[in-house]
Amino acid sequence: MDLKEKVRIIENFPIPGISFKDITPLLSDPDVYLETIRQLDILVDTLNEKPDVIVAPESRGFLFGVPLALKRGIGFVPVRKPGKLPCAVISEEYKLEYGTNKIEVHADAISKGDKVLIVDDLIATGGTLEATAKLIEKMGGNIIGIVAVIELTEVGGIEKLKKYRPKALISYP
Ligand code: PRP
Ligand code: MG
Repeated sequence: MDLKEKVRIIENFPIPGISFKDITPLLSDPDVYLETIRQLDILVDTLNEKPDVIVAPESRGFLFGVPLALKRGIGFVPVRKPGKLPCAVISEEYKLEYGTNKIEVHADAISKGDKVLIVDDLIATGGTLEATAKLIEKMGGNIIGIVAVIELTEVGGIEKLKKYRPKALISYP
């Protein structure tokens, strides 16, 4: 199944000049959703290292990280926006075009040496996933790779994340 055909492109959303990649059609049809998770699972196999746990940033990362963790029979750890997680957290701040963002993860969610796979829907500038990776590293986790449904190849994220072995199912320039 060609998943690229299922992604819906919306021009000039959320601001003029942006060609938005809408992944909701991958979710609304259960056959397409299952196929997306199946293809992500195969992509993980190409890393040649088995993850112990999947970490994903809210919110779209959850849509693919959770079913992939269930399929592989491993745990899932959510990375969240500030103030959402109830126990002790580790945080990481990262730069946006204007201002900064912060993300958090439960401090006890990853143990030293855990083999961690990071999952998200989209790699654009790579800012979200780089911050996620830094969180994992602070906790002593061993990042075995990053998988995403979509990569934008000309925004610099793939280059920025190179050392974490980023892979995606669908590419756009
Ligand atoms: C989007 C997308 C990725 C990130 C990619 O998330 O889901 O997580 O941006 O962009 P980057 O590579 O430039 O960081 P967003 O922050 O819009 O939030 P959402 O997942 O809650 O929709
Ligand atoms: Mg996101």
